[in-house]
Amino acid sequence: MLDNAGLSHKGDEPNKPKIIIEKPFGRDLKSARDLNKLTLERFDEDQVYRIDHYLGKETVQNILFFRFANGIYEPTWNRRYVDHVQITVAESVGVGDRGKYFEGSGTLRDMVQNHIMQLLTLVAMEPPSSMDAEVIRTKKIELLKSLRPIAPETVQRFAVRGQYGKVTEEAGDIKGYRDEMHVDPESDIETFAALKLFIDNWRWSGVPFYIRTGKCLPERLTEIAIHFKEVPHCLFTKSITGCPNSNVLVLKIQPDEGINFSFNIKYPGSTNRIDMVTMDFSYAEAYDVKMAEAYERLIHDAMLGDATLFPHSQEIEESWKIINGILEGWESFPPQSFPNYEPGTWGPLEAEMLMERDLRRWRNPDDDLNGNKTRKKCKV
Ligand code: BG6
Repeated sequence: MLDNAGLSHKGDEPNKPKIIIEKPFGRDLKSARDLNKLTLERFDEDQVYRIDHYLGKETVQNILFFRFANGIYEPTWNRRYVDHVQITVAESVGVGDRGKYFEGSGTLRDMVQNHIMQLLTLVAMEPPSSMDAEVIRTKKIELLKSLRPIAPETVQRFAVRGQYGKVTEEAGDIKGYRDEMHVDPESDIETFAALKLFIDNWRWSGVPFYIRTGKCLPERLTEIAIHFKEVPHCLFTKSITGCPNSNVLVLKIQPDEGINFSFNIKYPGSTNRIDMVTMDFSYAEAYDVKMAEAYERLIHDAMLGDATLFPHSQEIEESWKIINGILEGWESFPPQSFPNYEPGTWGPLEAEMLMERDLRRWRNPDDDLNGNKTRKKCKV
């Protein structure tokens, strides 16, 4: 169709056509390569704008600003100071009326291959020498190439999948994924995924990046939490609170956009007690400005010919390389216990165990507040 309209051609003229492509960019490495090949037969790379709407979010763009407009974080942004990183993209809604699409996709393809991989590259990439599209994209590609592949036979150690199930309550049933419209009642499609990833380069060697995402979780929350290492020597063994917790820097992507940093202080009083407090920056409190819609920003940039916020064809392929191993592993071991989490919880027990095996735990906002798990209703 584009051919017939004379819209798909390469060229040097100032008004050469541009093409904006919305995800999914393929459903595995091979189909992504085929799609890239087909696109690049008709268009040059600089004519192609692949939309990942997370890159259009103000707080996602802020990751690079925060990292590289401040001199004090970069020296600590590495394996010497960072213990691990947690990326959470939680949704409180279920699949709703998108069952047909979701049956052909699942959470790994729908959220991890694109949005979460983009968050990961921005938080972990090496400093670019400029904000030029080509420079930024090259650094992102380099980072993706350093991600340690997950071999299909090791997938059980590094990846967890889940599917929300039906819950019967006095107030009425909460639907499980298999009860959603256009979903196979015996579907094995995952609505939750958690991964433990490693980046094999000098900066991040040995630092785990834990990521998790899912539908029907207790709340809508996207954040990147940088957990710093414990102090090298604890002076406070005799304090009633023991040794301090380690510092955490949280880049809050949505819905309460901002940044928060937790650190230890002396609790006022005559006993030696350590208390953890936070410094909070909130976009909503600091600025009386409406956050632009991600798509508005992206379409505007595409019209101006600025590709900084659009993934390059190689980014897509590198990110599929990681996902492919997990998909292959999952295909050869069908899930035994689906559905395996209740709507309104933080996913299956195995996701907790992924962390507990490493003597770590997920940051669950509710657990932090009252020390026990609460279940909220999944919105439909
Ligand atoms: C889309 C996924 O890309 O992102 C959806 O297909 C998901 O399944 C959505 O709900 C989440 O986007 P946001 O901006 O609400 O976090």
